[in-house]
Amino acid sequence: MKDKIKNIGSLEDLQALYTEIFGKNGTMTQKLKNMANLTNEERTVINAENAELRQLFKDKQNELELAALNAKLATEKIDVTLDVEPKNRGTIHPLTQALKEISSIAQSLGYTLMTGPEIEDDWHNFTALNTPEYHPARDMQDTFFLENGNVMRTQTSAVQIRAMEKYGTPIKMFFIGPTYRKEMNATHTPMFHQIEGLCVDKNVTIADLLGTLRTILSKFFEKDIEMRVRPSYFPFTEPSVEIDMKWGDKWLELLGGGIVHPNVLRNCGIDPEQYQGFAFGLGWDRLAMLKYGLNDLRAFYDGDIRWLKNSGF
Ligand code: DAH
Repeated sequence: MKDKIKNIGSLEDLQALYTEIFGKNGTMTQKLKNMANLTNEERTVINAENAELRQLFKDKQNELELAALNAKLATEKIDVTLDVEPKNRGTIHPLTQALKEISSIAQSLGYTLMTGPEIEDDWHNFTALNTPEYHPARDMQDTFFLENGNVMRTQTSAVQIRAMEKYGTPIKMFFIGPTYRKEMNATHTPMFHQIEGLCVDKNVTIADLLGTLRTILSKFFEKDIEMRVRPSYFPFTEPSVEIDMKWGDKWLELLGGGIVHPNVLRNCGIDPEQYQGFAFGLGWDRLAMLKYGLNDLRAFYDGDIRWLKNSGF
């Protein structure tokens, strides 16, 4: 029997023989079943035989498996010096890359990333933002109206309202998302992205707004960013400011912001006597263009693979 095992040449034959000996009606199985009728000496002999046979099977199995592996390796050699066909590897779109970057910077400052719908109702897009019907500021944004009275979100400021309604105070929220306005030229597309930031707490001042923006922008552009502040007007902030950023030797208009108007807080059930906040909103695509040194916004949306490749993305 031992020689039989040793001389076996394939795993299939080994398995067949194993079943013959250790299977349900196998010879060793029978012997083991019959042990109760045997003397101690006889049992010791059978136990030893059982152990030895199992070991032989195991060794043989290892030997055969190794041989099979070696045979496989010998026939499946890969020639790593062969030229491979160039593959088109996809990458994450630059706008998305930059978006992830700036979001994680905001999160590192304790801002919660919010979401909000692209189709908004009048309340979130305008009225709650202290821009009631017939308010002249509604004309500043060429709105796409839907038949049911809803609008395509014209500004991410709508998400501020959703954030305050949902989470109350204190709150620090950050959002990037698409916004829609009826405009189309080299610097404007009907869909563009805005960033929105909001911080409401006790004793928040405009200095906090400036410090926060400077930190976020300096981290994003990986250099110290110089800013300048001009007075401005938005219905939802008082005072309102516009902030420019120094880029090379030029000042670029960057964003709008200010201290959240008491009416806006009240509209979200927050007591303006106790809480103040700052808010800011800015065009995201232009910021990403600056980061990558691009001058035509439309390239981001054309989906031209050659452009993406040549731009090193
Ligand atoms: N929503 C404004 C716009 O689209 C930008 C803006 C200005 C957002 C001031 C703000 C803010 O949060 O406080 O032009």
